[in-house]
Amino acid sequence: MGAFGPAANGFTEHALEEAAADIARSGYTALDGGRLRTLLPADVLETFSQFWNDLPADEALTGGGGYRYRRYGRVRVEVGAEEPSFEVLPHTTFRQDGIPLWRGAEREFAPIEEKALLHPGMAALTGFDTALATAISGRRSWELGIHQIRMVAGQDEDGLPTPEGRHRDGHWYIGMHLLSREDCQGGESTIYPEQGEPAKFTLRTPLDSVFVDDRQVTHEVSPTKPIQHTGIRDMLLVDINPGGEAR
Ligand SMILES: [Fe+2]
Repeated sequence: MGAFGPAANGFTEHALEEAAADIARSGYTALDGGRLRTLLPADVLETFSQFWNDLPADEALTGGGGYRYRRYGRVRVEVGAEEPSFEVLPHTTFRQDGIPLWRGAEREFAPIEEKALLHPGMAALTGFDTALATAISGRRSWELGIHQIRMVAGQDEDGLPTPEGRHRDGHWYIGMHLLSREDCQGGESTIYPEQGEPAKFTLRTPLDSVFVDDRQVTHEVSPTKPIQHTGIRDMLLVDINPGGEAR
């Protein structure tokens, strides 16, 4: 059985090794949502996506109102020969001293509920991300910071997926998964390698994803705008760092 367990029928060990080689070479890989959707049944994705309808405003960003809604949680994952094991870690504040906009800030995000952290949809996606991290590095013990984020863009206010501009987040790897995108334009991702041309693409269909080696590349996402009324962009971001070490 492969690193994903029995549910990973659309993503073979070979495809995983190819993605890992891509990341080793370029610092990132873009993953088609259609392939990642084979990792979980459609009804699991549907119920998992509903958790994005219950996110409080990101007060660290907006002071209460505004365009970004989010929750944060932490999980330890051990990648084994069969299914990975998951352990929910205590909630903490979130700190990113490497980014000038957030230096010195202890950001308080609402916790992700345990039923969301241990949902089969979360397990499928974080299981995939950690399997990929293991394929790249050979390590098997990971500590994840998990962010559920909804950007809401109105007629009068753009959504800013990366208000810090072009940046790196200070992790080993980051899995970035689109959950849904409605009435939304913009939101183009740019990955900047250390050498060569930047790569640009837009995550459009559920589970379109990008996985980056945060130490090798920087990234940025352009503002979102509504096509008609209210542009929604729901993302799952998975910060991936070796277990037992500082972020
Ligand atoms: Fe980022």
